[in-house]
Amino acid sequence: MTTALIILGAGMGTRMNSELPKVLHAIGGAPMLVHAMRAGAALSPEKTVIVAGHGAEAVSRAALAYDPSAHTVLQTEQLGTAHAVAQAKPALDGFTGDAIVLYGDTPFIRPQTLEAMAAARREHDIVVLGFEAADAGRYGRLITAGDALDRIVEFKDANKEERAVTLCNSGVIAANSATLFDLIDAVGNENASGEYYLTDIIAIARSRGLSATVVRCDEAETLGVNSRAELIAAEADFQARARCNAIEDGVTLLAPETVFFAYDTILGRDTIIEQNVVFGPDVTVESGARIRAFSHLEGCHVSQGATVGPFARLRPGAELQENVHVGNFVEIKNAVVAEGAKVNHLTYIGDADIGARTNIGAGTITCNYDGVFKHRTTIGADAFIGSNTMLVAPVTIGNAAMTASGSVVTRDVPDGDLAVGRARQENKSGFALKMFEKLKKLKEKRAKDA
Ligand code: UD1
Ligand code: CA
Repeated sequence: MTTALIILGAGMGTRMNSELPKVLHAIGGAPMLVHAMRAGAALSPEKTVIVAGHGAEAVSRAALAYDPSAHTVLQTEQLGTAHAVAQAKPALDGFTGDAIVLYGDTPFIRPQTLEAMAAARREHDIVVLGFEAADAGRYGRLITAGDALDRIVEFKDANKEERAVTLCNSGVIAANSATLFDLIDAVGNENASGEYYLTDIIAIARSRGLSATVVRCDEAETLGVNSRAELIAAEADFQARARCNAIEDGVTLLAPETVFFAYDTILGRDTIIEQNVVFGPDVTVESGARIRAFSHLEGCHVSQGATVGPFARLRPGAELQENVHVGNFVEIKNAVVAEGAKVNHLTYIGDADIGARTNIGAGTITCNYDGVFKHRTTIGADAFIGSNTMLVAPVTIGNAAMTASGSVVTRDVPDGDLAVGRARQENKSGFALKMFEKLKKLKEKRAKDA
């Protein structure tokens, strides 16, 4: 069965008190919208349509960054969830498969849950995702009879008996797309909110002889974010889950509560993550690597046996091959550091290739930026870069070449050569003593004059 995702995200998100559309607020380094899209990806959707309102352009950009084939449609007035879904109809013209409606501000729906809904769709015309609420609050109530879902009643419209029902509507609904749009056409807005409720399609479907059922999930999955306080709570939930998952996957976290994950962090078995490590998006750390305390990693790949930190920063494009050592106060960006190379202290390596087993001395800097362009530094294997070398890119250092400490290297260094790029030292006999005497006298004179 082919599937289309319809992700609702046009709501103002007033309670966020933000210029940023609500669905673009991030959890684990990715917009909530992307979390919804990732969950939906489990169904290999043929089409993804995002219904945006406030900040639609930014929403569209974020959607396209994750999935270049995603469509964003505009809902100019937020007249209710049924009206929102109806906006997706033109974008799904000619599509004959299933549609599944998700909310862009509900980031924790699990792929397995959507798969369970897809499976239930084989038996029923409409499948709604429900949950047993600890506190049903203002959620829509699912009115069931055995396996069948009869209707959904919104809290505002519910009577006392209906409000006592604790089985609630998550908002996720699956149906054949043509059926869905047909049913939505029949939805009116004569209710307590004056809105077009998507939830009304259940009763309409049943009156037309269609079947509806409920797939249940854990309440935590349906958690929605409406305020910054809820966003913070959702982030905490996300991090707690990411830590548990890492531990189950065989990662050693020395102080789990101080390690922060991104939505897509991949850590191999038997990696060791020390205290206070932050993972930005797109990080892979392979088995047996060690990330030492207070390191920050994003957009990078760390191979087996490598160690990073303490106090290291790996930025996008940092690729550390096996057994590389990156030490304290080292920043690496867009650079490949080959097997066994060492960059141990106080160094910036940007836009560079560093050969196998090469040693980069303390305080080395690849001067990659001339104020307008970025340039590359290439260093061969088995080279030795002396402490405090400035490598002014573009520049190439050969295999087994050396640079003298304190050199400013502006020209290529052939294999096996030593580059000395600094002023020659000269010692002036007794000059320091004379200088000290002169200065001391000057100090005495100033004290007297004052
Ligand atoms: C909705 C459900 C309710 C369910 C609850 C779960 C309806 C009528 N009610 O209620 O049964 O228990 O979600 O959280 O569907 N949106 C639009 N355009 C609109 C209206 C809403 O894009 O015109 C989007 C919102 O941005 C949000 C989602 O749809 O992402 C849900 O809308 P919201 O107003 O929060 O619905 P609830 O009243 O919470
Ligand atoms: Ca809501």
